Amino acid sequence: MKKYFVIGNPISHSLSPELHNFWIKKNNINALYKKIKLEESDLKNFIDKLRNDEIHGINVTVPFKNKVIKYLDKLSLEVETTNSVNTIYKSGNDIIGHNTDVAGFELGLRHSKINVLHKSVFILGAGGVVSSIIFSLLSMGCKKIYLTNRTIEKAENIKNKFDEVEILKWGEIPDFDIVINATSVGLKGDSLDLVLNVKDKIFYDVIYNPKETQFLKEAKKNGNKIENGKFMFIYQANQSFSIWNNVIPKIDDEVLKILG
Ligand code: ATR
Repeated sequence: MKKYFVIGNPISHSLSPELHNFWIKKNNINALYKKIKLEESDLKNFIDKLRNDEIHGINVTVPFKNKVIKYLDKLSLEVETTNSVNTIYKSGNDIIGHNTDVAGFELGLRHSKINVLHKSVFILGAGGVVSSIIFSLLSMGCKKIYLTNRTIEKAENIKNKFDEVEILKWGEIPDFDIVINATSVGLKGDSLDLVLNVKDKIFYDVIYNPKETQFLKEAKKNGNKIENGKFMFIYQANQSFSIWNNVIPKIDDEVLKILG
């Protein structure tokens, strides 16, 4: 039996096992996917299990997406650019780090028929997922990316990786077509201290639980189109699954129900 894991700390909230085990069953694969809480000091030993074929694939979540890199042999271009790994697998004798958040974001937008070509995008936040979103937006040909973060130094660190990005002070609002909330504000029903007084724009929140954050509720009330990060999450899992199992698993109503 093949064994797959998602590692993180905390990890109890992760819905990855529900998705992967559903697809494992649907595709008659002899495998099991579990979540496991690790400490940073456990990372090397855990990745060695993949090296020794005791386990067969690892998803990585907060706070280890960058910390695993030093234990890997080869990195995909997405990882080289974003410094963020969410999928690890073995190819020949090499342990490879890949980032399916990039493809997950793009496929999620396409699924929702959101087109970013030649559009201006305003990103709020500079946490772990933002580099993946920027990589994805640039590859889809968006015209302009503005980035703002409460702590400006973190936004500047991202600009070091992506020179095209323009940094704005927290509170400064540019002219935009799409705004993305990539902060953690909204997870607990809280609201951002930013006023975005616009209509007929697209408001995207990476958060999908709750389904509609205050950010999205307010935007909808003002006549904007809204979208949450549910499909990004599903598609990043879908891409990891296809790397490990050579099958692109179906995203149907049953899968959507798993995430509520
Ligand atoms: P992760 O890596 O999991 O994305 P993170 O690095 O803690 O998490 O990022 C959380 C993001 O939400 C950061 O951009 C953070 O801003 P700071 O860098 O200034 O901390 C942002 N954030 C959290 N609480 C916020 C708040 N009350 N107002 C504005 N931004 C907030």
